[in-house]
Amino acid sequence: MAAKITIVGAGNVGATAAHWAVTKELGDVVLIDIIEGMPQGKALDLAESSPIEGFDNALIGTNDYADTANSNIVVVTAGIARKPGMSRDDLLNTNANIVGDVVSQVVEHSPDAYLIVVSNPLDAMVYVAKQVSGWPKHRVMGMAGVLDSARFRYFISQELGVSVEDVHGFVLGGHGDTMVPVPHYATVTGIPITQLLTTEQIDRLVQRTRDGGAEIVNYLKQGSAFYAPGAAIVQMVEAIVKNKKRILPAAAYLEGEYGLSGLYMGVPVLLGAGGVEKIIEVELTEAEQAELHKSAEAVRELMEALPS
Ligand SMILES: NC(=O)c1ccc[n+]([C@@H]2O[C@H](COP(=O)([O-])OP(=O)(O)OC[C@H]3O[C@@H](n4cnc5c(N)ncnc54)[C@H](O)[C@@H]3O)[C@@H](O)[C@H]2O)c1
Repeated sequence: MAAKITIVGAGNVGATAAHWAVTKELGDVVLIDIIEGMPQGKALDLAESSPIEGFDNALIGTNDYADTANSNIVVVTAGIARKPGMSRDDLLNTNANIVGDVVSQVVEHSPDAYLIVVSNPLDAMVYVAKQVSGWPKHRVMGMAGVLDSARFRYFISQELGVSVEDVHGFVLGGHGDTMVPVPHYATVTGIPITQLLTTEQIDRLVQRTRDGGAEIVNYLKQGSAFYAPGAAIVQMVEAIVKNKKRILPAAAYLEGEYGLSGLYMGVPVLLGAGGVEKIIEVELTEAEQAELHKSAEAVRELMEALPS
């Protein structure tokens, strides 16, 4: 049986995720949005590429949650994206209301799903999803770390002139200006980048990673990044659907890990058919631990500012 994957929000990120998901044949995809006709049009257009691309998964667009019933995975990209000069945090109130509404519908129609939240500000929105759904923490997670880490990995590959395939690494913390790239865990085929790049080079790549979202927003002028975010979502979906037991950075609910509790933040997790099956705790330097706690403070400030 094909997995049923619902993507809420058929805008740039949602539609791009649908595109990657069907070309990888991860399951049947339902695209849902509040705009009438838009998800239907995008889904039909994408479905009409199937004879060329060779995928047989069902793909529908809808405005009705009845069509999403009993989804295995629900990805939430509904909300507004930022414009130049806006931070992700400026989206808080609008997107909290949207994500709350969406999750109530998801709970009613797909009570056993895994939820992957993407809407920004990410860590606060996953928290809203957890509160509204009341679901256990292994079934409610957020996508940001795979994207931020992919940016970091890409910048490293470009700096060294080596294949992206050989570059690994991850970014911890909240999905915002306080995110914490950890260079000493970034490697090229096992060789730490600290042996291949100078401190000045690494600092520059770290800063570019932190500003990665804004760099794209400033180019686009309208809307924010969507190709890499779409691909990042699909890597998480694939890990669950295929029970791949990937170790990926994702926003997970912390209960004591890294000395933090009661919030969502980006940490390495083991992702498989059981969702977030485990949170991996890695050793951090004192400075990194301090940065992580600073990032947690920023996330908590957002949580406190959430509409009640
Ligand atoms: N976590 C990440 O790493 C990451 C990366 C990129 C974008 N984002 C966030 O993802 C969100 C979507 O970005 P985008 O570029 O696709 O924006 P977009 O404006 O292109 O699409 C958002 C879609 O959500 C729909 N929508 C609004 N309210 C809805 C509701 N109640 N139910 C269903 N659909 C609804 C809109 O009609 C629109 O089509 C933004 O909040 C953005 O900041 C997060």
